[in-house]
Amino acid sequence: MGRWGSGAKKQKHFAWAAPPLYAARTVSEPVPLEDELGDVLEKAMRRAGLSEEALAARAGVSTNRILDAINYRPDFSGVELCRLAAALGLNEIGLSALGCGRYPLPSLKALPFVVYPLRMRHGIGVANAYLVAAAGASRGVLFDTGPGICALEAVWPLSIRSVDAVFLTHVETEHAGGLCDVVERFGVRAAYCPAGAEAPCSAPIGEGERKDFPAFSVTAFSTPGHASAHNCYLVEAAKRTGGPALLISGDLFFAGSVGCAHYCPRQLVTNLRRMLEAVPRNTVIAPGHGPMTTAENELRYNPFVV
Ligand SMILES: [Fe+2]
Repeated sequence: MGRWGSGAKKQKHFAWAAPPLYAARTVSEPVPLEDELGDVLEKAMRRAGLSEEALAARAGVSTNRILDAINYRPDFSGVELCRLAAALGLNEIGLSALGCGRYPLPSLKALPFVVYPLRMRHGIGVANAYLVAAAGASRGVLFDTGPGICALEAVWPLSIRSVDAVFLTHVETEHAGGLCDVVERFGVRAAYCPAGAEAPCSAPIGEGERKDFPAFSVTAFSTPGHASAHNCYLVEAAKRTGGPALLISGDLFFAGSVGCAHYCPRQLVTNLRRMLEAVPRNTVIAPGHGPMTTAENELRYNPFVV
């Protein structure tokens, strides 16, 4: 068990006032990745218990250039990126793509329900919550609450007037802020947090538990790693409409990276692979930070999937 702390990050994100809408159409998102090459190297070094000097010696790269990358000034050749990937046990193709600033993101296919990504600024970053509703519905189901009710209301879609349920991926300020305010404001009938978490106004939900709504179901997966109490949620259409499922991944993993392993790096990576292999390849991934992606894309390119 260990801890990957997060270093000082440069400001690189902005909040969006008007969230895009995902319905029966193909879309791609102009949202920056949560992590750059330096973030990934830093997380991988902590997982491996390597200092910058130790990684430099193992990969045949100067310590100063590793430090430059961590400070968002990467300048590695393709060969050096391959050596860094080998030294850290990372996916060579994905790390090389990140190093070139070209991490691939897929076009997202039509979903059998509507997804509103709610992107809210918190500190120097942006936290994502997601609202899922049947097409044309005025009520929905909310995944995470963002940093608080004011931030949430600023990006809330006008067409959704009430919330059937809230599911928290984990209890951190940027994802679960103001839960009780949200419950009161939107007349939430039920709020759920991961089993083992302490969150007011909510009940625990654990591995394999499923809740059914008129247009879709939500199944919880217990995925500790970033936090000891962390859930992912799989949203599947109630009827077989042929569209992909949606996986709310919280801070377990992002497009091109993983969350900081505040609880356990080994369990985080184990749960990353478990989730990617448990869902169909065309499943759309909705992470707690950064752009949406697909299971297939992350199985191919995520640096932490080898
Ligand atoms: Fe987060």
